[in-house]
Amino acid sequence: MKTLANIFLGLFIIEAVLSAPPTDSVNYDTAAYEVDLLYNLYDYDENTNVDQGEIEIGTVLPVVNRPILSPEPVQEETEEEGESTPKLIDGSSPQGPLSPGVQTPEASGGIPTCILCGCIRTTVYCDDHNLDAVPPLPKDTTHVYLRFNRITKINKNDFSYLNKLQKIDLTSNIISDIDEDAFRTLPQLNELILPDNRIRQLPELPSSLNYLDASKNRLGRKGIKQEAFKDLKDLRLLYLSDNSLDHIPIPLPESLQALHLQDNNIQEMHEDTFCNMKDYSYARRSLEDIRLDGNPINLSKTPQAFMCLPRIPVGRLV
Ligand SMILES: *[C@@H]1O[C@H](CO)[C@@H](O)[C@H](O)[C@H]1NC(C)=O
Repeated sequence: MKTLANIFLGLFIIEAVLSAPPTDSVNYDTAAYEVDLLYNLYDYDENTNVDQGEIEIGTVLPVVNRPILSPEPVQEETEEEGESTPKLIDGSSPQGPLSPGVQTPEASGGIPTCILCGCIRTTVYCDDHNLDAVPPLPKDTTHVYLRFNRITKINKNDFSYLNKLQKIDLTSNIISDIDEDAFRTLPQLNELILPDNRIRQLPELPSSLNYLDASKNRLGRKGIKQEAFKDLKDLRLLYLSDNSLDHIPIPLPESLQALHLQDNNIQEMHEDTFCNMKDYSYARRSLEDIRLDGNPINLSKTPQAFMCLPRIPVGRLV
């Protein structure tokens, strides 16, 4: 009789263990479900954001429940201006949009940009999110990556409120128009990365710039204004390849180290383009990397034009 009881007890325990799922997986499933629910609620394509979803779970959860239960207060919070919390930038703020005094920039659909995309400290990563416009960004943003989206236009106010911005990367969008003042007033902008778009005209550039990449665009004959780079005293890298440009955009600042103009339509250059024919002692020491290959230009025609350079440009020398 005792043995029989033991067998029953044993079976009971085994069954209980088998039927109870491990606590870990319960927690994980709940978390994943709630995150999914939030994304579905806003028509969010979770496939493009699996990594962020996993990384953000810990910080997302406090926010998750609230919009589902009461979406209205989220709206209220967006209108509250003037107070900003630096904590929000890295997306690690434990408070959701309901917490008083916390300003959360929200993308379309009401999802804060740092949840829709991902933020680490003051860097915003919004690559490959099907965005057709620049989303609202935290006020302390220093670096922003918006590569591989479908942005068509850069407006005057897309970045103008971000006076700590140092780098903007808009590689591989479909930008055709940039407002004249979209970047001009950004006091700390160092790197402006715009390749592989449809840009027809470069806007005014901030004097703080040291790296500009506008290669693989549609700048053409009139895409670069007269003396556009003259006052950029810190400009070191200027990449303008693959644009149907028909001239070298002079004058170039002394600071320039690399000038990439390959695969354009440049047919001629002048002896004064890089050097100074009135002063043979002049040397442009920093400009070591000039690419003129892939242009219908014969560099042998202007041998004097390279006298002041540390290196002869890459291009046809026959
Ligand atoms: C390039 O220019 C040099 C010097 O004027 C000339 O001798 C040479 O034939 C030209 N080459 C081509 C391919 O036009």
